[in-house]
Amino acid sequence: MGTAEVTAEADEAAALMRSAREALLDTAARMRTDEAGLADLAIPTDAKGDFAPPLESEIPDGPYGESIRRGREIFLNPGSNAAEYVGNSMACANCHLDAGRRADAAPMWAAAVSYPAWRGKNEMINTMEDRIRGCFTYSMNAAASPAGTPPPSGDAIYKDLEAYFHWLATGAPNGVELPGAGYPVPEKPEAGYDRTRGAEVFEAKCAVCHGDDGQGQQDQTGRYVFPPLWGPDSYNWGAGMHRVNTAAGFIFANMPLGQPFSLTPQEAWDVAAYINSHERPADPRQPQQGLSVAEADEKYHNHPGYYGDEVDGEVIGAGVTGDPTLTPAATGTVIPQR
Ligand code: HEC
Ligand code: HEC
Repeated sequence: MGTAEVTAEADEAAALMRSAREALLDTAARMRTDEAGLADLAIPTDAKGDFAPPLESEIPDGPYGESIRRGREIFLNPGSNAAEYVGNSMACANCHLDAGRRADAAPMWAAAVSYPAWRGKNEMINTMEDRIRGCFTYSMNAAASPAGTPPPSGDAIYKDLEAYFHWLATGAPNGVELPGAGYPVPEKPEAGYDRTRGAEVFEAKCAVCHGDDGQGQQDQTGRYVFPPLWGPDSYNWGAGMHRVNTAAGFIFANMPLGQPFSLTPQEAWDVAAYINSHERPADPRQPQQGLSVAEADEKYHNHPGYYGDEVDGEVIGAGVTGDPTLTPAATGTVIPQR
């Protein structure tokens, strides 16, 4: 296809989404006057039938739009825009692809309409702020950040991220689990999962970008172009991604980058096992509560994973820390302080 055709197709898709959104707003208005029922609900969808979030060009003007834009910049580049609370080299968008827009990559439009929600992880109703705090604590390894904690309650970082997610969900019904939410975990294969088989998948299909040693690749400014998969700059042992099942779902639907759903479920589980059988930063609950790795394993790690297991003759889970002077400079767009 030529560029003109691609542009025309994209324009057409955008126009379709816009008219679907207009139809939805119209339906909502009619619902308020009781002329139509829920069945008439028009929900903006893309060509695949997944929910279609609004386009960046549709971000409104004014304070709401400014908050949305700040939230988007934090999401893309927390190492610069929420630097106080980030203890590794990850960005939210590394695991929630396309700036949180991509279906099957735990998209933020699906999250926005499903909180507050009960979470088994901490056995209570979680607000969106609580849920974001979770990703700062574990996925962003806040314990190793300058502040040593996730952003404090009510911080503008949460407010801006929430504004961004709320806007992404424009036109989505509340309290409904939308198709494309979360990561689609393929059923665990009958042969189980095997890190040795996973090492072969890794070498053949992942190392080209993430490096033979899984440490990713940085450009000359120190910015990661391909994020690390284990080691001190990666997500910690408490993060959802360290679970073999969760990583298998993410990988199955999203990796290798640009070739979604190209691995077999077996390959996805095996390679998820391989990457998650390496050391990474400690599960912060373990040192904070004065637990041994074995105790933390018993208390918090009742799921598929290698925490506290013996791998190549060594028990893993105690965690690794980086040399703080080697932390790569955070780069990218820095949003102005408010
Ligand atoms: C063409 C390059 C490329 C290949 C090949 C590739 N990835 Fe990735 N991967 C990326 C990029 C880039 C990101 C971050 C996505 C973003 O920020 O948009 C990523 C993100 C990830 C993440 C989440 C972030 C993190 O660092 O933990 C995991 C896990 C992952 N990849 C695993 C894999 C596995 C397993 C394979 C092989 C089956 C693979 N990748 C192949 C480029 C690649
Ligand atoms: C290392 C990967 C990773 C990084 C980095 C990451 N997350 Fe997550 N996030 C996850 C995983 C895994 C889940 C759980 C998804 C699931 O199991 O369906 C999740 C879930 C979420 C959810 C709930 C989604 C839902 O549908 O319930 C929100 C909100 C969220 N993350 C926000 C963030 C924000 C904000 C950041 C950056 C500050 C961030 N995440 C960074 C891996 C990551």
